[in-house]
Amino acid sequence: MLVSAKEMLQKAKAGHYAVGQFNINNLEWTKAILLTAEELKSPVILGVSEGAGKYMCGFKTVQAMVNAMIDELHITVPVVTHLDHGTYDGCLKCVEAGFSSIMFDGSHYPIDENIEKTTELIRIAREHGMSIEAEVGAIGGEEDGVVGKGECADPNECKMIADLGVDMLAAGIGNIHGKYPANWEGLSFETLEAVSALTGDMPLVLHGGTGIPEDQIRKAISMGVAKINVNTECQLSFAEATRKYVEEGKDLIGKGYDPRKLLAPGFAAIKATVKEKMELFGSVGKADE
Ligand code: 13P
Repeated sequence: MLVSAKEMLQKAKAGHYAVGQFNINNLEWTKAILLTAEELKSPVILGVSEGAGKYMCGFKTVQAMVNAMIDELHITVPVVTHLDHGTYDGCLKCVEAGFSSIMFDGSHYPIDENIEKTTELIRIAREHGMSIEAEVGAIGGEEDGVVGKGECADPNECKMIADLGVDMLAAGIGNIHGKYPANWEGLSFETLEAVSALTGDMPLVLHGGTGIPEDQIRKAISMGVAKINVNTECQLSFAEATRKYVEEGKDLIGKGYDPRKLLAPGFAAIKATVKEKMELFGSVGKADE
């Protein structure tokens, strides 16, 4: 069932668990994530970056694929199609394509411009029954060529954006996209506490979910994080399983070169990663509640 993330995340915040946003890249990714969510009776958010959307032949193709999979795979759990780190124009394209949620990443604009653009997109999202995520304080690392410095958000700016009426807020708390460097200092729980205190019931979003130690994930959830984004970790597990298959020469045995066989270990690896995350985030079984 395709839904907006609004109610899903309000429930998660009240229930002290987080819903995973897993970024998709192709049919295998989408199918693996949807099937795992259904098996575990977990709500799920499918993240689509602008780059991945382009790669998959546009947001309309993505939405059509997800709609058809929900139908053909008999997916009953709540599913969100969510634009990840969208530009203003990217958000409009996702509205047109029928996504159920958008993220406008205005973190690199001066706060006044971020507020102005976010306000306009909130109005448009509301008109279409979609949820909207905003960002304050860039997330570190690289996401589709956008490089952030891993800064911590200003809690007062977070409150300003939250008060505009977004449904979820991504606040930089020292998190980084991609692998964490060995000298990473960990999440800034002081920032999270200050943001949480000023934004009240607002579901907070933790980007850069790959590689954050489990105790820090649990602590972040207990302090108001209700959505956690995971991208790189699925890519790493897919690549590792695929490399093993090829290195073992399995593509050379019989019809091992058949893409359905070649991609099967990577598909299973994505499922295992998604399962592990849903268990850690506490979203298993929550689709039934
Ligand atoms: P990772 O690739 O570090 O898991 O981050 C994903 C993310 O935050 C997408 O917005």
